[in-house]
Amino acid sequence: MNRTSLHRRRLLAAAAALPFTRPALAQELPLTPACGPQAGLTPRQTEGPFYTPDTPRRTSFVEPGTRAERLVLTGRVLSPQCRPVPQALLDFWHCDENGHYDNAGFRYRGHQFADAGGRFRLETIFPAIYPGRARHVHVKVQAPGRRILTTQLYFPGDARDGLWRAELVVAMAGRPEGKTAAFQFIVDA
Ligand SMILES: [Fe+2]
Repeated sequence: MNRTSLHRRRLLAAAAALPFTRPALAQELPLTPACGPQAGLTPRQTEGPFYTPDTPRRTSFVEPGTRAERLVLTGRVLSPQCRPVPQALLDFWHCDENGHYDNAGFRYRGHQFADAGGRFRLETIFPAIYPGRARHVHVKVQAPGRRILTTQLYFPGDARDGLWRAELVVAMAGRPEGKTAAFQFIVDA
């Protein structure tokens, strides 16, 4: 085996050990999908059976003392013309580390508003993979006064159900304090 192929094998082995990490994305996370004339709107998906309205406004779902793996989800909300959507509403919900939804309260549920640059940031945990579904985060996104986008976000290399779509996969990067995911929503605005 020459050195080049050994190096490549090591890279492949490292990538296999980190299924949610793209090694090339160490620091700068590209937002997905790219915005532009070809991009179109972020695809809609089913709300599923576990949406609860009137969620608390907050940017962290992390509970004190949790041992679940942390996830920071960041990104932007843009118009089809690639302009930021200030004050866009983002209402997130997902299951806990055991695959259960809180249908009585608001664990792992909450809404926030994008900043003046259309940016958002949610601190949470990795939702578990539960039977029959790819790992996912539900979200509703709405530019002020416009149509609500209901969809789901997915993780790289996890196409284990028929709903997983490449257009809805976040970009991942690893950090010492946990993993960071990025996604760019393109909505009616
Ligand atoms: Fe779900």
